[in-house]
Amino acid sequence: MTQPARIGIVTVSDRASRGEYEDKGGPAIEVELTKILLSEWEAVTVVIPDERKLIAEALIDLCDHEGCCLVVTTGGTGPAKRDVTPEATLDVCEKPMPGFGELMRAVSLKSVPTAILSRQVAGIRGKSLIVNLPGNPPAIHDCMLAVFPAIPYCIDLLEGPWLDTDPAYCAAFRPKHAKKK
Ligand code: MTE
Repeated sequence: MTQPARIGIVTVSDRASRGEYEDKGGPAIEVELTKILLSEWEAVTVVIPDERKLIAEALIDLCDHEGCCLVVTTGGTGPAKRDVTPEATLDVCEKPMPGFGELMRAVSLKSVPTAILSRQVAGIRGKSLIVNLPGNPPAIHDCMLAVFPAIPYCIDLLEGPWLDTDPAYCAAFRPKHAKKK
């Protein structure tokens, strides 16, 4: 039997990490992934404060030790002093994947002009794809549906697990030659 794909979900929030505020971003991501994925998967969740070093360490742990093929973050992508999620993400990635941020901002700009304030990035660390999502749950929904069609093929190219999505909710796109191993 194949192992379920492991997906890291990192909530970056000073207040949520202190328990002063309920984490809404992490659970919103889990709901979206449950709707999108038909393949078996399991979440590895972490809630951490807006500290560049702690974010970087959490991302390294999820990619290198927890075996997550995909790690998504929520929060900390704005311009405020404590928002450092994109910096921490690029600190640990070998390859930036600029298309993700470009597409998410383009989609979000259709809803709110302040989407231009989002500094979301994505990148590759080893065999893992790391993607920054915004902090607010409706924005998480819009951004996930925009970028997820390309994620299964990205994970194929990283030699990760084959991910099937629900075509009625979010159809994955793979080039015709892509074959399940
Ligand atoms: N994108 C969408 N779709 N909807 C939003 O409300 N808020 C923006 C932006 N992207 C927003 C959005 C704002 S106001 C900011 S400051 C950044 O995301 C904040 O990102 P963060 O919550 O990850 O820090």
